Amino acid sequence: LGEEELYRPNFHFTPEQNWMNDPNGMFFYEGQYHLFFQHYPDGNTWGPMHWGHATSENLLDWDEKPIAIYPDELGYIFSGSAVVDLENTSGLAEDGETPIIAMFTYHDAEAEKNGSTTFQSQAIAYSLDQGQTWKKYDGNPVIKNPGIRDFRDPKIQWDELNEQWIMVLAAQDKSLFYTSKNLTDWELAFEFGNKIGAHGGVWECPDFFPIQVKDSNETKWVLIQSLNPGAYNGGSGTQYFVGDFDGKNFTPVADQKNLEANHTYWLDFGKDNYAGVTWANTNMKEDHKLFIGWMSNWQYAEKVPTTKWRSSMTFPRELTLVKKEDSSYRLFSEPANQIDKISKQKRQESKIKSAENTLLLADDSKFEMDKLRVKLKVTISGNKRYTFNLSNDQGDSLVFGFHSADNTFFIDRSKSGKINFSEKFAEKISTAPRTSDDDLLEVEILLDKTSIELFYDEGETVMTEIFFPNSPMTQLELITSEDNFTIEDLNIYQLELN
Ligand code: FRU
Repeated sequence: LGEEELYRPNFHFTPEQNWMNDPNGMFFYEGQYHLFFQHYPDGNTWGPMHWGHATSENLLDWDEKPIAIYPDELGYIFSGSAVVDLENTSGLAEDGETPIIAMFTYHDAEAEKNGSTTFQSQAIAYSLDQGQTWKKYDGNPVIKNPGIRDFRDPKIQWDELNEQWIMVLAAQDKSLFYTSKNLTDWELAFEFGNKIGAHGGVWECPDFFPIQVKDSNETKWVLIQSLNPGAYNGGSGTQYFVGDFDGKNFTPVADQKNLEANHTYWLDFGKDNYAGVTWANTNMKEDHKLFIGWMSNWQYAEKVPTTKWRSSMTFPRELTLVKKEDSSYRLFSEPANQIDKISKQKRQESKIKSAENTLLLADDSKFEMDKLRVKLKVTISGNKRYTFNLSNDQGDSLVFGFHSADNTFFIDRSKSGKINFSEKFAEKISTAPRTSDDDLLEVEILLDKTSIELFYDEGETVMTEIFFPNSPMTQLELITSEDNFTIEDLNIYQLELN
């Protein structure tokens, strides 16, 4: 198998060719999920940014479209968002028509080269044909640079209560919030962040939205805030803050008020989920948001062993906000429910008692291991280690699981295949603290050719990582540190794609 066939994912979005980073401008309209992305169509490393475009009806089959927004004399087209302007508040469409408004950052690379520090500004493009084609707004930039070097990634949200648009953007070590009535005139409202949370690098790609707390009538606002470098396991990663918003200010909840740098509020603890944000205009319930992230890390993204194309997105996820018994709030992520439609149950067993320390869960005699979904529940006890081993007959092995002694999840990809393209790739074992105290551990695994997405405790703790085996992985086992264990429930699904 050529490298491309070996590594092109089965059920994760990749561009047909060349470089991709952040997801941008996602919205749902008239039956179509739109996904735009940071794209350099002329090379397989980062370069002058465009917005690539793809659409899907089911979040599984993506149809790549022509490039939506090209760079111009004001700069490259950096990350941003899009909203469906249902009431035509912008006036950019004819009466009775619905414009889609995208806001992005212009990055003036020329000015940067010449020593300027004000080379990023915010601009608008709009579509009058449901997102197929885009025009740049005449009055760009709509927000000039106020003297901040890193000033980018606007994300717009409608604020129902105060009948206004709110936009949040990243400004170095904080987020700035702007409000608008018409999407073109913006006023700075407040700022958040320079003394809270993790700051090992630059804040990027924020998202700010209301969400109803699961099983309650309470609504909180969540600020998703990507950070590079300085993530929990190094390099790029995404933290979040939960709080109240009164139309003018965002106040974090009690246990996040003085959140320190080494906190545990990370949307994903794995190394490969960055710059993720949510879709606009989905008709989901108030307690759900639809999210997608870039499945890579700036530490090695440009070096991963694919050439025709580089990087894929995570599987889309549904976010929910859960209030825990100790009154803390945690963002849970689970695979978007569209995956159920293609999940064909192939193995279902309860109360599997293993007398030995190893149990084969699935292998390639019965399963296609690169489009697999596994759900299992195991009762955790004592000081055991629960180690999953995904391996092939070339000796490649990706190990992950849970240590009950120190209450942590882990992923170790140091023997998972090709790792030498970057010393950062498998430098350390990634870990995540377990914040649930349930005796029953629930694990959901999504396996593609080069990625694993782990959802523990119904999505309370998530770890996403990529890997590049020398040949396809062929088996998945569960191994414990001592003999004897019971799997309460095991479900294995083959993902049946078109
Ligand atoms: C995040 C990021 C954004 C920026 C874009 C440029 O990965 O650095 O802050 O807009 O990538 O491609």
